[in-house]
Amino acid sequence: MQLALAPLQTYTDYHFRNAHLAVFKGVDKFYAPYLKMNNDGTIKNTPKIDILPKNNPNNSVIPQLMACGEQEFFVMADYIESLGYTELNWNMGCPYPMVTNKNLGAGILNKPTEIFNLFDSIFPKLKMGLGIKMRMGLENTSEILEILPRLNDYPLTEIIIHARYAKQLYNGTCDHERFLECISLTKHSLTYNGDIETKEDFDDLQCKFKNIDHWMIGRGAMKNPSLFEEIQFGIVDSGEVYRDKLMLFSQHLITSLLECNPDRGYALSKMKSYWEYLSEGLSDGKNLYRKLKKSKSIEEFRELLSEML
Ligand SMILES: Cc1cc2nc3c(=O)[nH]c(=O)nc-3n(C[C@H](O)[C@H](O)[C@H](O)COP(=O)(O)O)c2cc1C
Repeated sequence: MQLALAPLQTYTDYHFRNAHLAVFKGVDKFYAPYLKMNNDGTIKNTPKIDILPKNNPNNSVIPQLMACGEQEFFVMADYIESLGYTELNWNMGCPYPMVTNKNLGAGILNKPTEIFNLFDSIFPKLKMGLGIKMRMGLENTSEILEILPRLNDYPLTEIIIHARYAKQLYNGTCDHERFLECISLTKHSLTYNGDIETKEDFDDLQCKFKNIDHWMIGRGAMKNPSLFEEIQFGIVDSGEVYRDKLMLFSQHLITSLLECNPDRGYALSKMKSYWEYLSEGLSDGKNLYRKLKKSKSIEEFRELLSEML
């Protein structure tokens, strides 16, 4: 079985990935949030820095990009290759209209001809492995039924499916029946993604999708970073041990943030945003987060956290 941490832009950055690796176990693969182009033809800086090998000394990272044309695809793919990576992931899942209106992310899913034209021009020139991470469609989950069988003609490394359609954003439920249909339509390695928040969620899905042994978890791991070790090794920490691990995890995060940017306000605002999720996994999390949010300095944040954990 293989468990992957999903890419979550601004959350699962290298600070988070490295701190996770230092404190928790069970992640087999990390996916970095997507690279994207600026209007001037350069690549946006934050995701560019995020995948630098020096920032990812120990974790096995697959970089991701978001593109809708061959030229911009290769600007980003060439950069990724120049850093020594041998595989990349194409984001065909981002659901937000600002993105999809430009044919980016999930915006291409209701235009299969455009997908296959792009693949026809890209694959002959591509030297790296390419996988895709997709929703089941833009308007509804049946769009994927047309796409999947034709993807069998291309040498993809994998397909990761977040089992919603894009216009749902994050609302409603995942379409498990449709995912079952997808299993029989693809010859590629298939990963299930969507709404795994607890070990019980995982066990239920594993019973439903017996042939699937690749799984990806995002928000569930942001709320409970020990979820991977619970699933992989059955490790369930006592409340006290888990809180100690969260403190250690937070210390790793703060050290990494301050190393990257000496502006202490930056570290403070990043810690507040990680903890918006992390607090959700604790019974007294709402109260904790309310207090953390009021911290005026990173020192105050750390002290408060240590006291409350
Ligand atoms: C804040 C946020 C940022 C995300 N950023 C990315 C991203 O950069 N690339 C991507 O493929 N998916 C991104 N996603 C989608 C997640 O990777 C994942 O597919 C989705 O959250 C469903 O999985 P989950 O229910 O386990 O969280 C993002 C989701 C959230 C909530």
